[in-house]
Amino acid sequence: MTRKRTAILISGHGSNMRSLIEAASEPAYPAEIVLVLSNRPEAQGLAVAKERGIATAAVDHRIYTGRENFEASLQVLLELHRVELICLAGFMRLLTPSFVRLWEGRMINIHPALLPAYRGLHTHERALADGAKIHGCTVHFVVPAMDEGPIIAQAPVAVLEDDTPETLARRVLAEEHRLYPAALAAVASERIKLAGGRVIFADPSDPLARPPGAR
Ligand code: GAR
Repeated sequence: MTRKRTAILISGHGSNMRSLIEAASEPAYPAEIVLVLSNRPEAQGLAVAKERGIATAAVDHRIYTGRENFEASLQVLLELHRVELICLAGFMRLLTPSFVRLWEGRMINIHPALLPAYRGLHTHERALADGAKIHGCTVHFVVPAMDEGPIIAQAPVAVLEDDTPETLARRVLAEEHRLYPAALAAVASERIKLAGGRVIFADPSDPLARPPGAR
């Protein structure tokens, strides 16, 4: 199987981007990172990707009059690099329904919570405020609604008595770095498919189908 040409969209730090690049540096990995795009020219992740010899571009959303024009520029770059899959990795712009539909089944996102709980921002603070015992992260297909869409994989993280948003975020982020490359591999190698708005595993005993620790 040929490796799927994959773009990563970031807005900032890019630690998830780094874990995807790292995984894809393995020749047997089913996706190849061919492009990193950021809506913020100052995003630290851009320099990291460039250092790794990956094509990068900043498409500054602030210079565009509307989301459609911003996304038209993204689309030109994605087509130029013959991108087949998109990973959103801390990409903090809402995408229009028409862009999302264009990439339906081919665009995935990581979110720092066990969706459908805690969509949006400040997920760790909110989980702690609620006294949640289990928190975690989710990789899902992107649909035209924020932090929603068929779930590909989740990783649970136990909330500790003395956790702060920072300590909890650190443990969740460590799980994100493990989960995202595993989820992208499943999509790129077609071990999963989308059917009727649900994720179906070709092999029900696929390790991603059941998170560790689930009974
Ligand atoms: C990650 O925790 C990611 O899950 C989150 O932003 C952070 C980006 O960190 N994404 C969202 O909240 C999307 N709704 P990174 O730039 O170091 O990968």
